[in-house]
Amino acid sequence: MNVEKKQIDRRCIFPAHRPARLVVLVSGTGSNMKAILDASLDEGYGAHIVAVGSDRNGTKGIEIARQAGIPTFEHQLKDFDSREEWNAAMRDSVREYVPDLVILAGFLKILNEDFLKAFPSRVINTHNALLPSFPGIHGPKDALEYGVKITGATIFLVDPGIDTGAILAQVTCPVRDDDTEESLLERIKEVERKQLVDVVGHMVREGWWQEGRKASFGSIKR
Ligand code: GRF
Repeated sequence: MNVEKKQIDRRCIFPAHRPARLVVLVSGTGSNMKAILDASLDEGYGAHIVAVGSDRNGTKGIEIARQAGIPTFEHQLKDFDSREEWNAAMRDSVREYVPDLVILAGFLKILNEDFLKAFPSRVINTHNALLPSFPGIHGPKDALEYGVKITGATIFLVDPGIDTGAILAQVTCPVRDDDTEESLLERIKEVERKQLVDVVGHMVREGWWQEGRKASFGSIKR
């Protein structure tokens, strides 16, 4: 019984800090980041945001973080000689805050292997479609144009591909006949924010694991 328990624990990743330290990367309005920020005001949530970073200057997400007194950083790709240097700057800024979990919440750039290696199995992304359908930055538009009746949002452990990492959780959102890209995006974002808050809370309180393409939070149930 004890041996079994040890094997389960070994596979699980747990935050090194309590509350867990979250670094959130944003590119836009930051409503997903704000949802985590609000949830983290409750001590029982088990995590707090220690920094918010962006690949753009002057985003609403960064503004929200600053107003909440959270340290921020901005690195625009165009200010660097190469993509590698930009990745290294992002990596170094994130590393400074010793995160247990790095959350890409509406962050629209691909981070390279060097970045990911610095935070192994600790970078998650939320995508506004049901992967593997409709990866990339136009998830809701692509789903609408394809004519699917159900779409949603996916949280996954980030790998070097475009929205290809092991899936941690998914939530559905029906597509209405009269949906526009905007109306669908907003309805997806409602369920997406709730899912992100729930999943991050579970991960920091219960740990998480990955075996190949399978990943989840809490201990492995066999
Ligand atoms: C989310 O729907 C995310 O999936 C997509 O961009 C949106 C970001 O929204 N990549 P916000 O910046 O958190 O409001």
